Amino acid sequence: MRVLVTGAAGQLGRDLVDVLHGSVPRGGRPGPKASFGAASTGRASSCDVVGADHRSLDVSDRAQVAEAFEQLRPDVVVHCAAWTAVDACEADPGRAFAVNAMGTRHVVEAAGRHRAHVVYVSTDYVFDGTSERPYVEWDRPNPLSVYGRSKLGGELELGADATVVRTSWVCGYHGSNMVRTVLRLMAQPGPLRFVDDQRGSPAFTADLAVALAEVSRARLPGVFHLTNQGETTWFDFAAAVVEAAGGDAGRVEPITTAELDPPRPAPRPANSVLDNLAWRCLGAEQLPAWQDGLGRLVAALGEGGGTS
Ligand SMILES: NC(=O)c1ccc[n+]([C@@H]2O[C@H](COP(=O)([O-])OP(=O)(O)OC[C@H]3O[C@@H](n4cnc5c(N)ncnc54)[C@H](OP(=O)(O)O)[C@@H]3O)[C@@H](O)[C@H]2O)c1
Repeated sequence: MRVLVTGAAGQLGRDLVDVLHGSVPRGGRPGPKASFGAASTGRASSCDVVGADHRSLDVSDRAQVAEAFEQLRPDVVVHCAAWTAVDACEADPGRAFAVNAMGTRHVVEAAGRHRAHVVYVSTDYVFDGTSERPYVEWDRPNPLSVYGRSKLGGELELGADATVVRTSWVCGYHGSNMVRTVLRLMAQPGPLRFVDDQRGSPAFTADLAVALAEVSRARLPGVFHLTNQGETTWFDFAAAVVEAAGGDAGRVEPITTAELDPPRPAPRPANSVLDNLAWRCLGAEQLPAWQDGLGRLVAALGEGGGTS
């Protein structure tokens, strides 16, 4: 079995390639369930892993995607590649849709030609945040931002047998994310201000990648919400990061989204907590509590510093 991972240099892509190789990503739980066996060479008996980064495979280029599938002939493609700069997407919807929606169309078209199963990684930002409860997989999307609309566009490109994995507030050892931001701000004097009126569920790539590998191996069709368990606000999350790093959580102050200066170009959902209902219905192992994932990530970053 051969798995192609797009966007393999991103924070999720890098950890997913590690897990598919059978190794534990930085900040991962020791001895996680590695679905594809534990070969350190990347060639487990049942699985080859090919990680394609942006430079080697630009998903917005239809011919390049077709050529990559022709050469690699994957059985499964986990499509992590996306333009994830949420605020920048507002200023350049053409690029957002070219990468996130059309890029997915190209992946789906090429996968169809080779009968490869598609696993598409999507986002909580497909929802408008007006629900008073966590969102389940069958709730109607209504994105507020260009990024959310373009990612929903990608979902709409998929055939009935494909998998959609919606996740949220992604943080990992590699790349930029809120944990790295808070740790950087901690090193500077003054208060740290974070919004207290946006709720969500953090997803740590080391844990998410294990579940994604499982989904890919099983080729589960349909939509799944996959996050670490529990919910928080950005304010509470930032305070937890400071505390986990041994700092003074009292330095973190709550503000409202309206008080952000300058205001963010892209509107965010006030509530984007994702209930992992479909995953739970299957009896699959839930991802650990977000506090558990956060503790492991902060410890790993403390040891190694992370990579951008
Ligand atoms: N980050 C979050 O909080 C979050 C939340 C929900 C869902 N997601 C979804 O989770 C997935 C992984 O996100 P992530 O956090 O790992 O983001 P990331 O670190 O930004 O990784 C995305 C990768 O895609 C690459 N990419 C961008 N344009 C591309 C193109 N045209 N062709 C091929 N590759 C391209 C990027 O490369 P360059 O940087 O070199 O352009 C980057 O390495 C994405 O599908 C995202 O929409 C993320």
